[in-house]
Amino acid sequence: MSNSDETGLEARLEEQDAFEPPESFVEQANVSDSSIYEAFDENWPQCWEQAADLLDWSEEYEETLDDSNPPFYEWFTGGSLNASHNCLDRHLEERGDEAAIEWVGEPPEEDNLTYTYEDLHAEVNEFAAALRDIGVEEDDVVTMYMPMIPELPIAMLACARIGAPHSVVFAGFSADALATRMNAADSHFLVTCDGYYRRGDALDHLEKANEGLDGVEHETETVVVDRLGANDDGFGHGLSDSQRDYDELVAEHAGATVDPVERDAEDMLFLMYTSGTTGEPKGVKHTTGGYLSWVSWTSQAVLDVKPDDTYFCPADIGWITGHSYIVYGPLALGTTTMMYEGTPDYPERDRMWEIVEEYEANQFYTAPTAIRAFMKWGAEHLEDHDLSSLRLLGTVGEPINPKAWKWYYKHIGDENCPIVDTWWQTETGGMMVTGLPGVSTMKPGSAGRPLPGVDANVVDPSGEQVEPGRAGYLTIDKPWPGMLRTLYRNDERFIDEYWAEYSDTDSDDPEDWVYFPEDGAKIDDDGYITVLGRVDDVLNVSGHRLGTMEIESAIVGVEGVAEAAVVGGDHDIKGEAVYAYVITEDGHDGDEDLRDQIVAGVEDAIGPIARPESIVFTPELPKTRSGKIMRRLLEDVANDDELGDTSTLRNPDVVEDIRANVQN
Ligand code: WTA
Repeated sequence: MSNSDETGLEARLEEQDAFEPPESFVEQANVSDSSIYEAFDENWPQCWEQAADLLDWSEEYEETLDDSNPPFYEWFTGGSLNASHNCLDRHLEERGDEAAIEWVGEPPEEDNLTYTYEDLHAEVNEFAAALRDIGVEEDDVVTMYMPMIPELPIAMLACARIGAPHSVVFAGFSADALATRMNAADSHFLVTCDGYYRRGDALDHLEKANEGLDGVEHETETVVVDRLGANDDGFGHGLSDSQRDYDELVAEHAGATVDPVERDAEDMLFLMYTSGTTGEPKGVKHTTGGYLSWVSWTSQAVLDVKPDDTYFCPADIGWITGHSYIVYGPLALGTTTMMYEGTPDYPERDRMWEIVEEYEANQFYTAPTAIRAFMKWGAEHLEDHDLSSLRLLGTVGEPINPKAWKWYYKHIGDENCPIVDTWWQTETGGMMVTGLPGVSTMKPGSAGRPLPGVDANVVDPSGEQVEPGRAGYLTIDKPWPGMLRTLYRNDERFIDEYWAEYSDTDSDDPEDWVYFPEDGAKIDDDGYITVLGRVDDVLNVSGHRLGTMEIESAIVGVEGVAEAAVVGGDHDIKGEAVYAYVITEDGHDGDEDLRDQIVAGVEDAIGPIARPESIVFTPELPKTRSGKIMRRLLEDVANDDELGDTSTLRNPDVVEDIRANVQN
């Protein structure tokens, strides 16, 4: 954690105010009784049966929590269920004609689509039959590399129906990133598309997918969705023998039904790769019973989702937020969930508000980076829009500064909507630290208390709780149903990354096991937690997790580069931006050409989201005597802060030299 984070936080805490939830909201809230905190504590872990009860089980579970082999906890053991049945079939009788997904495409006027629960059920069944037909069996990992088109959740639910875990790779990731993930998951199936629209232009996606497939070590079957009507002409790729057209496949299975496969509560629902401390992405494994219970319960309790709502989260399904709070949580509750294909400022900067107004959205859940952008664009973009349908606002992915919080509260919520600032991670499956909107006082900048039944604490390096107001590390001291079960095929790394820091790893007593999310935090006298940011080598750029090691290895892969260090620098909109310090092979200053190659190298290895904001060429990097790069000092340079302690450096002068290079 850098010093600058802490001083930034002090300033934030100083101006902290408290806001009570609006009375009109409390009256109708799914949860409005504050006794829930105590009740859950007293009845832990059985309190989580309340979450499991939101689902339809084909076989009732026998035990709520099996904690006999920590940290390999199991939830709702003995139970079985199917996620696609829970998100679709069980709603058909009462809500078959209601919209399940409202899809808003780009370009805007042309093609918005409504999928009722009936429609979605029918197409999921047809595609499930098609997947079986191309050879997908239970437990095969199916990779999806798709933008925000309806076929993405359809494919996810079709996989869930036949018990095949999905692994969704964000469409903005590069071909290399796709290949790495398909190889790591030993995934033999890919669902992708020809292209999609971005700011009115058609983008070629299949070329990237094909390039990725070239790097996959085994045979694959691919299904290609025709988003642009261009499979054979637009970009001219055509389809190879192992590639099938989605529409043709579905048409071949028109009217097919596939019985939902009974999955054990602990069977894998999906894998999601996320960035960690090393260069290799981590395959986070989520289960059917615990995960689905968790996202259903939190959607109901925190997002206040009700079946008649229209719920809008403009995140991308390629990230965990979209999995949990566009697809699984809202659909499990039988509500209408929206999907938006485009960007928030195309064709105009009022795009979000146009959609909220047109669809009368009731919830709006987005990342602080988006809110900072809205704030910068100005409130005039709201003037012509009636946002009175909104009942609740939410944020996720990074800390929100009180100024942005207050802007959101005032301009989007009209001081009428509670805001839930939800702290969680890919690994936690769903929300962990956040207020209950019908119960909790809101303090801008602070995520709030841990949810009922969640045992989150802020501790010092020895594991002792820190005094209120002091910075420490966030820990979670009891298991929860939505938790990751392991890292795919790597139990050892699972223990190392998340448990080793604060647990007695030789013990089989669950009391001795503590989950460490690798975030810094503070807690106040009321138990409100303010999350300060990552304490590992992970950046949070516009709410997206990127490993510094992944970016560094991409840069070092560029010819002419000898060494690189990547850190996060403060950024008005993105929160954090990528700053790269690069040593060239010949030790000289790099030229524009090398700069371009580095940018291209990063885009090829990861994707445009990891593009460096700044590249500084330097003859040396600040290193400790043992040869470790002192990233904290590079962060100080990036943020133009006063330098921290340089006395442990082998080469103390180098930092000022680098600073001089930045200014040149
Ligand atoms: C950060 C996104 C402050 C945190 C759901 C965490 C937050 C990482 C918040 C996980 C929040 C997420 N306040 N920080 N409300 N929510 N974070 O896996 O550092 O993409 O560890 O999951 O985002 O990012 P991930």
